[in-house]
Amino acid sequence: MQRTILITGGSGFIGSHVVRRFVNRYQDDLILNLDALTYAGNPENLRDVEAAHNYRFIKGDITDDACVNAIFGDFNIDAVIHLAAESHVDRSIMDPMSFIRTNVLGTGVLLNASRTHWKDLSGKRFYHVSTDEVYGSLGETGLFTEDTPYDPRSPYSASKASSDHLVRAYHHTYGLPVVISNCSNNYGSHQFPEKLIPLMINNILHRKPLPVYGQGLNVRDWLWVEDHASAIDTVFHAGKDGETYNIGGFNEWRNIDLVHLLCSIMDRKLARQPGDSASLITYVKDRAGHDQRYAIDATRIERELGWKPSLQFEEGLEKTVDWYLANLEWVEHITSGSYLDYYRDQYVTR
Ligand code: NAD
Ligand code: DAU
Repeated sequence: MQRTILITGGSGFIGSHVVRRFVNRYQDDLILNLDALTYAGNPENLRDVEAAHNYRFIKGDITDDACVNAIFGDFNIDAVIHLAAESHVDRSIMDPMSFIRTNVLGTGVLLNASRTHWKDLSGKRFYHVSTDEVYGSLGETGLFTEDTPYDPRSPYSASKASSDHLVRAYHHTYGLPVVISNCSNNYGSHQFPEKLIPLMINNILHRKPLPVYGQGLNVRDWLWVEDHASAIDTVFHAGKDGETYNIGGFNEWRNIDLVHLLCSIMDRKLARQPGDSASLITYVKDRAGHDQRYAIDATRIERELGWKPSLQFEEGLEKTVDWYLANLEWVEHITSGSYLDYYRDQYVTR
């Protein structure tokens, strides 16, 4: 084996795409996936690679100091790609403390284990995967660049901003070789149906109301998850120590326009009348502190590292819908049990 790479949160949405890519492309590297398997972590996401010779799963919590240090003691870890997090803004409004615990404390535990165990820093890398939400909310114009001051506004984004600051502090104070990327909204296969796109797909399928927050005029910049995984691969292998790279698709959509596009794709795929799914759209009470607009300037990663998104949005959305329709069992498994309680608290009693 050449290198041992510890990926955290590898059983989640983005993490599973990153693990799959690294296991398949870097067969001489050992890929360790450390994941606590919270509601968002799903072993089914990695069925196709779980038997690979260069893959190991470790069930554990990144806030557990003893567990993380034991992993660093047992394996000669060369690099960490840190994705484990509580990731859903609405849940952070309901229960901020679990976000502070996992996203802030958990990142601190991983940084500290790296600092303690890496006596020789040459060839080492701590890659922190973060979000564009740390930059706050935009008005009608402008884009987030790597120099935009931090202005997080939800418990989720504040916890991610805190973790970004900790990563930079370990670089400046201890010389830890770190790299950070901040990405826009991802979509694609294996996304938990609490996020906008898979939630709408699932509700359309079951002819349930489509809950659009406020007036649906908030804007997000959408990127296909496999393009995010390829960007992470690029930054991991070619990014410079101590640097930050913004990742995005230059692909802004108002929520309501996106939901209409999804409805028309679903009507076609399900052989329903045009307008059938859109009739389910229901405007609901807005998210507290709802950020108006996110938009990423991803010029730097393209100019310096040569990365670009590969897919147009409409094509990516078609692929995503096809995946959900072909994997109804995957959706069923995770939308029973505690999902029903979440759905009731979030939507039914909204
Ligand atoms: P996700 O919620 O789908 O998955 C998170 C994973 O982390 C799960 O497998 C979960 O079991 C694991 N996890 C949670 N707490 C843990 C703990 N204490 N110890 C170990 N594992 C734990 O999240 P995602 O959407 O795949 O996001 C992954 C990362 O990318 C996060 O850091 C998120 O902030 C960042 N990000 C997400 C997006 C997006 O659009 N989803 C965009 C930009 C950045
Ligand atoms: O920008 C990157 C971030 O994108 C990531 O860091 C987060 O982990 C990820 O969850 C995502 O955050 P958002 O809050 O933007 O994503 P979400 O899918 O929850 O919502 C997208 C938009 O859709 C947002 O404006 C809220 C709105 N929305 C969402 C849901 C779930 C609705 O109108 N109705 C809904 O039911």
